[in-house]
Amino acid sequence: SDVRLWGARFADGPSEALARLSASVHFDWRLAPYDIAGSKAHARVLNKAGLLTEEELAAMLAGLDRLLADVESGAFTGTVADEDVHTALERGLLERLGPDLGGKLRAGRSRNDQIATLFRMYLRDHARIIGGLLLDLQEALVGLAEAHPETAMPGRTHLQHAQPVLFAHHVLAHVQALGRDAERLRQWDARTAVSPYGSGALAGSSLGLDPEAVAADLGFEGGSVGNSIDGTAARDFVAEFAFVTAMIGVNLSRIAEEVIIWNTKEFGFITLHDAFSTGSSIMPQKKNPDIAELARGKSGRLIGNLTGLLATLKALPLAYNRDLQEDKEPVFDSCDTLEVLLPAFTGMMATLTVHRERLEELAPAGFSLATDIAEWLVKRGVPFRVAHEVAGACVKVCEGQGIELWDLTDEQFASISADLTPEVREVLSVHGAIGARSGRGGTAPSAVAVQLGEVKADLATQ
Ligand code: ARG
Repeated sequence: SDVRLWGARFADGPSEALARLSASVHFDWRLAPYDIAGSKAHARVLNKAGLLTEEELAAMLAGLDRLLADVESGAFTGTVADEDVHTALERGLLERLGPDLGGKLRAGRSRNDQIATLFRMYLRDHARIIGGLLLDLQEALVGLAEAHPETAMPGRTHLQHAQPVLFAHHVLAHVQALGRDAERLRQWDARTAVSPYGSGALAGSSLGLDPEAVAADLGFEGGSVGNSIDGTAARDFVAEFAFVTAMIGVNLSRIAEEVIIWNTKEFGFITLHDAFSTGSSIMPQKKNPDIAELARGKSGRLIGNLTGLLATLKALPLAYNRDLQEDKEPVFDSCDTLEVLLPAFTGMMATLTVHRERLEELAPAGFSLATDIAEWLVKRGVPFRVAHEVAGACVKVCEGQGIELWDLTDEQFASISADLTPEVREVLSVHGAIGARSGRGGTAPSAVAVQLGEVKADLATQ
């Protein structure tokens, strides 16, 4: 018999070419458990509306449970001939309950409101999974910061030496960014917790069904949608999910790029653990940061999923259009990508070795304490404009002579500016410069300890 949900007005079955183009069951099959949950909720409102008797409801729910068990065991699967997951599951239900009872479930619903609902359920579950993996990474980074509370490193702007900072301060900067991504996931979830079930194809249902009851049954804390046309046609929840996952990818790529650079011979800031590095098939000495490189590469793929999706949605008229079937593969891929990437990335960050001496050695290089000379002068009443010039002159002399700022003699300081008394040397140390920046958000150990406490308290609430 014809498995299609729409065959009656057609004289001919679909062409082979159409069937192959149209089929989505090979990628939407992962929604099957959600579709069955939706069907159970729908059966209950059909019963409430007097369209299924108590006995029919009980038999329907039992049939759906058997179908779910067969889906989970692999005894029942969709085929290309089924077109999509909804059609396949309808076939499965008809096989189990017969056409008289099985054929009653479709009343008052459409694949359009079904898919819009199931897709939200699936993405909400995966937002939670990704949020958990993100938390693991944040905790690994917090551990890294805590293990190096006093280690200084060269802070950079333009990738040039700028000012010394604490290694922990730098690592926590990444934790802050990832914390905002986690927050974005939670806010997205709150916005997405609204059920389109009951919207039908676009106009709602004449059968007196209760969309709020379905929403509550399926765990949508925000109830059901206020507009059935929007409920079936809106996909901004998909685009936003793709954005948040792309942003996570981009944030990982920024950490990854640093790991790759820090792990070079030239930098020598860190060494990756063997279990989280790879070798070369020809060069026996090689130990490569492949996890970081894959993170950097996969961020491109996550961005592509977002931009492809936005292009699909652009200028689509209301309400449902089949174009919308193209919305699933990109974000399924984004979920799969992050769910395989994040655990490896966290392992890499949790196990790397930090080379403190190397970081501390380079912290003052590149005249990174010049700002401290300027600020020391400002504290003595010198206008910053002048102080900046004086400190710049110090750098110029040092560069000419191939020496560091702290190598300047009292006479050299005095000849650059009468304000540069020998006490200026007090600020010409890395830990002096770091310790002086003790305001909120600054790099002093005391300020970083405050930040660490705030970050840990925030993570503990999740
Ligand atoms: N498989 C479709 C999708 O993913 C849902 C089916 C709606 N099809 C239809 N002809 N209205 O969007």
